[in-house]
Amino acid sequence: MSLDKFPEDFLWGGAIAAHQAEGAWNRDGKGISVADVMSGGKHGSERVITAGVIDGMYYPNHDAVRFYDHYKEDLEYFSEMGFKAFRTSIAWTRIFPKGDEAEPNEQGLKFYDDVFDECIRLGIEPVITLAHFEMPYHLVEAYGGFGNRKCIDFFTNFATVCFERYKHKVKYWMTFNEINNQTNYKSDFALFTNSGLRIHDDSERERAMYQAAHYELVASALAVRIGHKINPDFKIGCMVAMCPIYPNTSKPEDVMLASVAMQRRLYFADVHARGAYPRNMIAYFERKNFNLDITDVDLDILSKGTVDYIGLSYYMSFTIANPHDNPQFDYDESRMLVKNHYIKTSKWGWAIDPVGFRYALNWLYDRYQLPLFVVENGYGEHDVIKDNTISDDYRIDYLREHIIQMKHAIVEDGVEIIGYTTWGPLDIVSAGTGEMSKRYGFIYVDRSDDGTGTYKRIPKSSFDWYRNVIATHGDVL
Ligand code: BG6
Repeated sequence: MSLDKFPEDFLWGGAIAAHQAEGAWNRDGKGISVADVMSGGKHGSERVITAGVIDGMYYPNHDAVRFYDHYKEDLEYFSEMGFKAFRTSIAWTRIFPKGDEAEPNEQGLKFYDDVFDECIRLGIEPVITLAHFEMPYHLVEAYGGFGNRKCIDFFTNFATVCFERYKHKVKYWMTFNEINNQTNYKSDFALFTNSGLRIHDDSERERAMYQAAHYELVASALAVRIGHKINPDFKIGCMVAMCPIYPNTSKPEDVMLASVAMQRRLYFADVHARGAYPRNMIAYFERKNFNLDITDVDLDILSKGTVDYIGLSYYMSFTIANPHDNPQFDYDESRMLVKNHYIKTSKWGWAIDPVGFRYALNWLYDRYQLPLFVVENGYGEHDVIKDNTISDDYRIDYLREHIIQMKHAIVEDGVEIIGYTTWGPLDIVSAGTGEMSKRYGFIYVDRSDDGTGTYKRIPKSSFDWYRNVIATHGDVL
């Protein structure tokens, strides 16, 4: 093994999610997903979640960027950049429109056959997330989302159908995208997109989140086992949002809270990787008297469904200060994060911290000793189009600095990384805000926040830059 550069088979590429790119929200038998009932928002004002699709209301994901119709052209662009891997998700509602049907929707299955065939034709490895913030809305209304144990079966049915259908086309899978985002349980958005939860009583929120997360962890472990039976060569990972949390000062209380905060945000990966809850979480559940529905059978399932790798997104670090009224170091993301004065932020307030990326990769690898797969990293920014060209040097700078740190992690620190897929290689609808103008792409899409535009694709200056990064195997940055 040579550690002086990126591994030969390193999977360079890009990542999107079905609901943020495809559009065609109600075509060919597709059902309504949680993403289809969220309005547009912006920095500082959360997206509104409506009770079903309401006439006259604007929903940015309904059309997204029309990847459903443009996928051949888009994949061709990715191939031109030399992509080795392309991550997307399978929209659960294309396969099971309501989520609880006995039989899948053939037209939905056929669409992904076509997409994966095209990837394979172009020499691009598809990397597939099963649930990326797009559970069927019917499961929310009829069952209360993942607050209901029945959703374990609905998810594993969906996973089984996908594993069987694509077993010769897809090798890399992930179960739940950023399963740990819901640690921010005070956010309606986080609870709804991760777990399909609508909790109006504030005192119920935290417990409800841990209960839903438990059912998801069981569903994920079952899916890992089913997948490995269907094809022993499958590599099935979890996916966590990795935001390392720094103490604001060297005050022991800040340091202690930062450590607890990492436990709360990352126990999801502990369970996925080790097959058991860490003792710190069991102690916490007991202290809080949560009385979660966790059975011995569940614990057995968790122990037998551990993942093959840790998928992660990295955008930013967090910094935390312990408030005076928090002697037990309870973590509340909505009120304890503070600004890190050593770090600049994006226009959306996201800390730009490349060294934090190296730290994050080391932290995860030290803890799990499992290969990592960086399946999201990128820079959301307004782009200006002038004379049909877009110069996005700020995006190149962000990515360059992060790739340099990833290289340090591989070469100097010995961290094992399977690949790196940047977020939104094609501009897509922002998950957090529903805006189009928070762009991540190497390829511009002519669409505005209100959905107007030609949807034409135009490569930006970062397109050639990334093509060269891949061509030189990360030597020329
Ligand atoms: C991650 C999600 O949270 O970050 C993506 O997995 C999301 O779905 C990405 O798009 C960037 O966030 P945003 O809010 O800028 O779209």
